[in-house]
Order: sequence, then C-alpha cells, then structure tokens
Amino acid sequence: MTPIIEIKDLVKTYGKLTAVSGLSLQVQSGAIFGFVGPNGAGKTTTMRILTTLMAPTSGEAYVAGYSVIKNPRDVRRAIGYMPDFFGVYDDMTVWEYLDFFGACYEIPEAKRPAINQDLLELVDLAHRRDDRVEALSRGMKQRLALARTLAHDPQVLILDEPASGLDPRARIEIRELLVELARMGKTIFFSTHILADVAEICTDVGIVEAGKLVAVGKLEDMQRRLMPHRRIHVTLLDKLTEARAALAAVEGVAEVEVVEQVEGAGRARLVVEYAGDDAAVSAILAWLVAQGIPVVHFSEDVRDMEEVFMRATKGIVS
Ligand SMILES: Nc1ncnc2c1ncn2[C@@H]1O[C@H](COP(=O)(O)OP(=O)(O)OP(=O)(O)O)[C@@H](O)[C@H]1O
Ligand SMILES: [Mg+2]
Repeated sequence: MTPIIEIKDLVKTYGKLTAVSGLSLQVQSGAIFGFVGPNGAGKTTTMRILTTLMAPTSGEAYVAGYSVIKNPRDVRRAIGYMPDFFGVYDDMTVWEYLDFFGACYEIPEAKRPAINQDLLELVDLAHRRDDRVEALSRGMKQRLALARTLAHDPQVLILDEPASGLDPRARIEIRELLVELARMGKTIFFSTHILADVAEICTDVGIVEAGKLVAVGKLEDMQRRLMPHRRIHVTLLDKLTEARAALAAVEGVAEVEVVEQVEGAGRARLVVEYAGDDAAVSAILAWLVAQGIPVVHFSEDVRDMEEVFMRATKGIVS
C-alpha cells in the first residue's frame, strides 16, 4: 500500500535552531494519525511543510503522491489545513467566512451555497450562519475552522491542535467529528496534547521530540514495546485470596494489585502486571476460570497513552 503522506529525512532549521531533525514518517490512507510531542518538538513546523506553507531545509515530503516542493499546487488541492490559530475575521458572518474560503479554493459561485450549507450542518453551526464569526465561542470557531478545511472536499486533513483550549463537551464534539470525517474516507493527520483523544480515536500514533520521531505505530504495539509489563484488569465476584494465589503461580506475573474491594461482598478489582504475549494472556484467564474463580471482567489496558508518552520522550527541550 502506498502511503498517502510520506515524509523523508525532513530537516528544518531556523538559523541555528534545528526544529525538525531528519524526520521520516508514513501515514496510510484512511488513518487517523495522532502527532504528539512536547511543546517545541517540531509538530507545527512539520505540518507547515506538509501544507506547502514553508519549504524544508532538506528532505522531501509527499501528500497524495505529490511532492510538496515540486507540486505544491496539487498538494494544496489534496489537503485541508487547519492552523493552530484562528485569525481575525472582523465583521464577517459565519456564512461569509465559509463562502470566502470556498472562493479561495475556486469553487464556482453557483455551487457554494449548497456546499456551505452542508458543511455548516456537518459541524452543527447552521443555526449560527448569520452570526458574526467573532461572536462565536472558541468551540464553535474550531468547528467552523474545520468546516472551512473541507470546502474543496480534500482527501487529507492536516489539523494543528484542533481541540486545544476546548471544554470537555466541545472537545468530544471535535473528536466525534474527526471520526465521522474518517468514516467519510478522509485521512486525518492531527497534532494534539490531549492524549486521551489519541487513545480514543487514533489508528496510529507518532511521537516526536526535539525534531525527531521517537516512536511510531499502532498504540497497542507501541505500548508493548515501551512498557515492560502489560496491565490486565480483572474483576472477581468472590475468592480474592484464591485468585491472588492462583495469579502468583503464573510465570510472567510481576505484580498483583487490589485496586478496589467492596466491603462485606467478595467483589474485588485487580490490576495484574504481566510480561507475555496474547496467548499467555488468554492462558491466565483460562487458568483463573479453571481454578473456579468467578471472573466477571477481564481486559487489557491499552489506553495508558500517558505512560507511553512519558516513556517515549525524555523531556528534551529544543
Ligand atoms: N518562525 C520561527 N522562527 C524561529 N524559530 C521557530 C519558528 N517557528 C518555530 N520555531 C522553533 O522551532 C521549534 C519547533 O517549533 P514548533 O512550533 O514546530 O513546535 P510544536 O511541536 O508545534 O510545539 P507546540 O506543541 O508548542 O505547538 C521550537 O523550538 C520553536 O521555537
Ligand atoms: Mg505547534
């Protein structure tokens, strides 16, 4: 499969500062790719190069098969870009704003009203179409900015912190929109500091630090690589003592922690730290059940993005 975004040995220096330092990365078509890393890691710089706003110092990048250096116009047609700032649009209504960007993308005037209306409905702003942009809340502005990236129906969305500064509800709305857009067939490459969002919606994750990619792949694979132990959550109806003894006898179990115990009842929740493969995880469950332990919940923790992030990055500041 050819990747829809391909970055090869990308370097960007600002004077003496190296913001992007030999970054290579591939994003497959249809992915929701989370680009994470500490402040100053080079995320925005990488995205500005991908969107042809800035030339790299060296290296190459391709979007939808087009080189950002040799075919910037084709790249621009293939992408929708949401920058990390909204800009100032005094005295423009929501409708005028979308219509303006539609015109920038050379969408014929006759086609724009239907497109604008569809986009406003998609981001749930149809009821605000005649309001001034400056009067919108931050969450609404972010949704409007997202709508604007879609005007020319691009294949790839490059979104720089689309959910920054939003309240929990607004954040979840953006998250759901991204999933919806992926369902519509768009590839999404977005930067974020909200690791819970990454764990929740991303198909792939790239962690960048000091201009270098320090980890990339599926979250589960990354977790397996970076974390020596897997974490399994087990809930029992009863027989806590027997369960602990049974688990202690399993090879690879490093620690069993009781995280919750209901007084009076036998119900308890355990976290088992364990090193081993999938077959071994299923063997643990089979073993517990064979010992007559009433297991009501058994799941592996794959959402611990924060720990993955802390292990992948070292706290280097460029
Ligand atoms: N126009 C510029 N001129 C000089 N230095 C710059 C410029 N833009 C960015 N930098 C520097 O390049 C480095 C990478 O910045 P960049 O904005 O790409 O990081 P980022 O990962 O997007 O960070 P954040 O999470 O804070 O948005 C930083 O050290 C930054 O100060
Ligand atoms: Mg940035």
